[in-house]
Amino acid sequence: MSSDRKTSPILELSAVGKSFRSADGTARAVLQNVDFTLHEGEIVALLGQSGSGKSTLLRLMAGLLQADAGEVRYRGQPLYGPARGISMVFQSFALFPWLTVWQNVELGLEARGVPQAERERRTAEAIDMIGLAGFEGALPRELSGGMRQRVGIARALVVQPEVLLMDEAFSALDVLTGERLRDEILQLWRSGSMPIKAILVVSHNIEEAVMMADRILIFASDPGRVRAELPIALPQPRNADSPRVRELIDEVYAQMTARSPLTQVERRAHANLAERLPDADVSRMEGVLEMLAEQRFLGRADLPRLVEAADLTDEELLPVATALGMLGLARVEQGDIVITAIGRRFVEGSKVLRQRIFGQQLLEHVPLVAHIRNSLEQEESGELAVEPFLRLLRENLDEAEAGRVLRVAIEWGRYGEVFEYGYTTGLIHLPEGEGGEAPA
Ligand SMILES: Nc1ncnc2c1ncn2[C@@H]1O[C@H](COP(=O)(O)OP(=O)(O)O)[C@@H](O)[C@H]1O
Ligand SMILES: [Mg+2]
Repeated sequence: MSSDRKTSPILELSAVGKSFRSADGTARAVLQNVDFTLHEGEIVALLGQSGSGKSTLLRLMAGLLQADAGEVRYRGQPLYGPARGISMVFQSFALFPWLTVWQNVELGLEARGVPQAERERRTAEAIDMIGLAGFEGALPRELSGGMRQRVGIARALVVQPEVLLMDEAFSALDVLTGERLRDEILQLWRSGSMPIKAILVVSHNIEEAVMMADRILIFASDPGRVRAELPIALPQPRNADSPRVRELIDEVYAQMTARSPLTQVERRAHANLAERLPDADVSRMEGVLEMLAEQRFLGRADLPRLVEAADLTDEELLPVATALGMLGLARVEQGDIVITAIGRRFVEGSKVLRQRIFGQQLLEHVPLVAHIRNSLEQEESGELAVEPFLRLLRENLDEAEAGRVLRVAIEWGRYGEVFEYGYTTGLIHLPEGEGGEAPA
């Protein structure tokens, strides 16, 4: 892409905000004050935690959803509905199961009233371009995941959009298939054989973002907003193993695990009971700490290297690293994860000592766990139903997220013997021998 193409803005978001009402009717800000411009000639990647509002942002940009605050402008005009020049590819493929590949691809053109001969020509072209030739008559269920996503992409391309929005388009695919498809899209982009002028990819795969993007935006949660921006000034095609790419991946890791100052202020403001606890199970935390303590790492590892060594994906390691940092068992700095003194005592400890350390760290660092424990101690019976805690969380989180956060708190609390959970009774209670008594 020549650099002059990069100057003119295609999509502009200024001070965009969006709230949703939760089940109990209270409004929750999902996006706040988002400023962002997508220019001609660039690929931008958007990275952020799950639930941070990335998909919502994409829907706003496609005109599928209206902002409550601020403005979305497409080619200088406010966007009030679905725009012809903007196509979206979804993680879930979103194909019609009863239609063939050809019919699924052609669909977008029918809706736009394109005459039949033209439809056929363009459908054939899109199918050919994206490597689906020979599969025109197949039904989605007869195709592999990778081929299905090719249909999703062909359907987005057939309308000859100038903006392509990809919402985790590769993440339902196995790694190799995802990488191959990604490289093909990049190749089409470079060759200029698509009329597309700009691409926005939402991803949780850091390597994917670094390999594809000219610019990476890192999104913060609650409410979602742009926290950091990182230009990737490397020529395409890029080599995933080159030192520069590995360095950039490190840098993105560091930015993503850093807590923003704003979040800390907010955390203090509402003592943050509703902090989104990362989805990290304790055995994975133990595994990562044990690995860090090994001779080959000497207490410090590069996060991307650890992803390989532990045979995890970014998506799996990030919550574990975040959880370890939150609990003071490790520190994340500049893309490295470093075991702390407490983390080391944990690794060297017996099962009982590990549980005790974990429990102490939980009470000290996770307000929700401390709150549950305090509430139980104030009950004569030493037990409580989960509902009041869920209700509390729903003030700040949607229903699914509230359930997820409470589940994580319970799992962690059980391991640390801070409290127990009766799967048959649905009650949280103090551990055996502590029932109803004040703590020592
Ligand atoms: N239509 C909706 N109604 C209510 N809440 C929604 C709706 N769409 C998204 N949300 C909520 O907004 C938040 C952000 O969602 P989403 O944009 O899908 O995040 P991401 O794509 O970053 O995972 C989530 O808590 C989600 O439950
Ligand atoms: Mg999403």
